Amino acid sequence: MAKRVLTTESGAPVADNQNSATAGVGGPILLQDQHLLEKLARFNRERIPERVVHARGSGAYGYFEVTDDVTGFTSADFLSSVGKRTETFLRFSTVADSLGGADAVRDPRGFALKFYTDEGNYDLVGNNTPVFFIKDPIKFPDFIHSQKRDPFTGKQEPDNVWDFWAHAPEATHQVTWLMGDRGIPASYRHMNGYGSHTYQWTNAEGEAFFVKYHFKTNQGVRSLSADQAAELVGKDANSHQTDLLQAIERGVNPSWTLYVQVMPAAEAADYRFNPFDLTKVWPHSDYPLRRVGRLVLDRNPDNVFAEVEQAAFSPNNFVPGIGPSPDKMLQGRLFAYADAHRYRLGVNHTHLPVNAPRTAVVDNYGRDGLHATRNGSRHDKNYEPNSYAGPAQTDAALAAPLAVHGWTGTHEAPAHAKDDDFFQAGELFRLMSEDEKGRLVANIAGGLSQVTRDDVIEKNLAHFHAADADYGKRVEEAVRALRED
Ligand code: HEM
Repeated sequence: MAKRVLTTESGAPVADNQNSATAGVGGPILLQDQHLLEKLARFNRERIPERVVHARGSGAYGYFEVTDDVTGFTSADFLSSVGKRTETFLRFSTVADSLGGADAVRDPRGFALKFYTDEGNYDLVGNNTPVFFIKDPIKFPDFIHSQKRDPFTGKQEPDNVWDFWAHAPEATHQVTWLMGDRGIPASYRHMNGYGSHTYQWTNAEGEAFFVKYHFKTNQGVRSLSADQAAELVGKDANSHQTDLLQAIERGVNPSWTLYVQVMPAAEAADYRFNPFDLTKVWPHSDYPLRRVGRLVLDRNPDNVFAEVEQAAFSPNNFVPGIGPSPDKMLQGRLFAYADAHRYRLGVNHTHLPVNAPRTAVVDNYGRDGLHATRNGSRHDKNYEPNSYAGPAQTDAALAAPLAVHGWTGTHEAPAHAKDDDFFQAGELFRLMSEDEKGRLVANIAGGLSQVTRDDVIEKNLAHFHAADADYGKRVEEAVRALRED
């Protein structure tokens, strides 16, 4: 094999990569040392803004294979026949901490999946939790500020975390989930993924359905106790990354089975609670899980920065047959992600290999901008309509329309018979074994007892009481005991 020559960015050979050029032996450095200047300047520009949330992550490629017929519910081409395979890229993440944090912490985990379909990329940007803390996107920046590092102390503060939850009764369900056994997954392989939101599917006849996605891990759900996690963080802060990377390198390819819950669109208006409320699950007794297919991860990225850090997932990347529901949180997210990508990666982030469609062809009139690598072919016009057979619209609706009524305004969600913020938190608590309840209560009390303001503690206790009398009583006793210590 020919010997590889070290070059500058312009391709010229480098004579010396150990000694910078100086004026005489021991003299000052010369401005004409192009290699030195380029090397230092380039190094200064290596970091890009980290994701404002979900900064720490791990990714892997794989495929999705359809195992069951769902054509009665969606016309999406990648789900159109049993056995059909679609390439995928999945990025897992923690949420609150910055890039320098640790993996084995109590936090939701991101589960962001890109399907490289023949009809364009479909991004399903979910979490390992079926619900979320809030139900209106206008609260999201405040919520995240309260969970991230305090601007004065520079660290996460129980005062802020619990103060936000004191003012957000709708968070009680997700707080119960997070403080329970599943709050610290043993690894990314040992947790489920959820679309969390309600999405809309439309079949070839134009009939609409509302769906929720569930990816069940085939490795089994495994979690860590708070003590096990603390020990692991001390040994390997990157424990989830190590686990995923090594499993795939060994050929132990993790997989998940995708199920959906399907609600005919006409049932949404009269369902007993708002089916677009992200703080609630749909009971399986109302809408059972239907199997759709299998997701397998079988290839590690070659380069973490290029493929994982630069990956861009956006909930508004849909394909025909799949669309948004009126869930307000989802609607807010339809804006937030592509905007973040334009800031973090630039307007042409879709040209990057990890984000570019694989089998679908991109053909439009978007042009120029920083780092444009796909800018139309020779003689292509950059306006539409044109007389030169350029790409034209299809006139085919991508999804069924959503019915709307009423006046504009800052409304709360439409009222349903049973919309209260607590009953599902209570149901989750009552499902737990005695041991699980004990650990849940200890985890909550461990955090809540560190809060300095009594009124914040009382407001949070009131939420647990409202969820279930026994739940409230136990948390209250545990908090009081720790505060008297
Ligand atoms: C990442 C906003 C709620 C899952 C992000 C990012 C932003 C954001 C700006 C960084 C994107 C980037 O730089 O690439 C929001 C807003 C929300 C919201 C405004 C509520 C209104 C949610 C919910 C889920 C979720 C409910 C899950 C169901 C994720 C995931 C990532 C992420 C998995 C990381 C994606 C990746 O791996 O690149 N979010 N988010 N977010 N969000 Fe959200």
